Amino acid sequence: MKLNELALFGGDPVRKTPFIPWPRVVDGQKEKLIDTLMNDSWGIGSESIQLLEEKFALFHDAKNCIVIDTGTNALWVALKAAGVSSGDEVIVPPYTFIATVTAVLMANATPVFVDIDANTFNINPNLIESAITERTKAIVPVHIGGNPADMNSIISIAEKHNVKIIEDAAQAHGAEWDGTKVGALQNGGIFSFQSSKNMSAGEGGAIISNDDDFMDACFAYYNCGRHRDGDWYDHHIIGGNHRMSAMAASLLLPQFQTIENDMRTREKNRKKLDKSLSDMGLEITQTYDKVTREANHLYLLKYKAESFNNISRENFFEAMRAEGVYTYAGYKPLYREKVFHGKGNDFPWLKNINYSNISCPITEQISDLQSVWLTQNHLLGNESDIHDIINAFEKVTAVLKNNPEKFDTKLKE
Ligand SMILES: Cc1ncc(COP(=O)(O)O)c(C=O)c1O
Repeated sequence: MKLNELALFGGDPVRKTPFIPWPRVVDGQKEKLIDTLMNDSWGIGSESIQLLEEKFALFHDAKNCIVIDTGTNALWVALKAAGVSSGDEVIVPPYTFIATVTAVLMANATPVFVDIDANTFNINPNLIESAITERTKAIVPVHIGGNPADMNSIISIAEKHNVKIIEDAAQAHGAEWDGTKVGALQNGGIFSFQSSKNMSAGEGGAIISNDDDFMDACFAYYNCGRHRDGDWYDHHIIGGNHRMSAMAASLLLPQFQTIENDMRTREKNRKKLDKSLSDMGLEITQTYDKVTREANHLYLLKYKAESFNNISRENFFEAMRAEGVYTYAGYKPLYREKVFHGKGNDFPWLKNINYSNISCPITEQISDLQSVWLTQNHLLGNESDIHDIINAFEKVTAVLKNNPEKFDTKLKE
């Protein structure tokens, strides 16, 4: 491979057209939207919303589901229903979307960061116990990229210390732990239907659980503090209005016809990528033994510069993007966010915690140097799409391995 064949240096890019756009319209959505518009309530009391709750609970091996306006608010509602309140601590990984900690702060609690496992990018269960204090109320394992966290270990720690588990399954529609879908493996869990997600309504969320008391509490927090059987103007606690619109429910219902096929396509394509990219020297994320299905929401890899003649990940990204395949770094460690380093005006209980002293070395190594992300819509492609992705990786890694000095010099020109 000659240097000038790289698109970055004027060569022909591997891929000139975009990959499958996301979200995409599926069969039945337009008809369902119009039917809801003409024949259903548009909000509370809607048959579409009720049906979505029944179908999502069934799809996710749970007794109950409440659909919500966003995943962030679903997590706030679930944390409140789990009893999280001011003065409490909630254990979270620092390698996740900000919403995981936003919800903890919105519940007036303190996020306590526990580092991740370098092989799976999920919270490391071996580090959880030492982070538990008498103030710990809950653990929020995030099934990152749709790859389930080590739930057996996390559940046994939570039971030993009598703390709740709220799964952040925002990215894990259809993922399974030991043959059971994630989300209701312990106290309850949340999902997101935001634009990028494997099931999408533009915006939306859900809570699932097998615990009736927990779901009753969720009902009050998401619906203005009401009780299920109470009067409309009886408000027992302060709860938000986090109800989903019937239009969002109508966009989601037809996706039960497509999700299984989408999951199989992603699985098939992922296998091809895993094989080819690991042969090129990129590292594939692993799963725990009890993971029986991944949702493949993100395709997460590790780029180790030492395997590519110390060419930085950022230069690798530049070359990949020029070939028409958008790879990027993804999350940064959340404890570096401004909210943890300000004056604490909005969150005074953070004022005495020095988040500058917090360091989660694996999260830092992965986010600062190694992670490579490819979004799930790439995994839905046909043979030629996957071929293009593999070719772009092949072309770029071949140059990095064989012409590193010339690559560096050319970049500086
Ligand atoms: C891990 C994680 N948690 C929570 C959320 C919040 O979901 P939403 O964007 O629907 O509020 C997201 C969504 O991006 C997420 O990826």
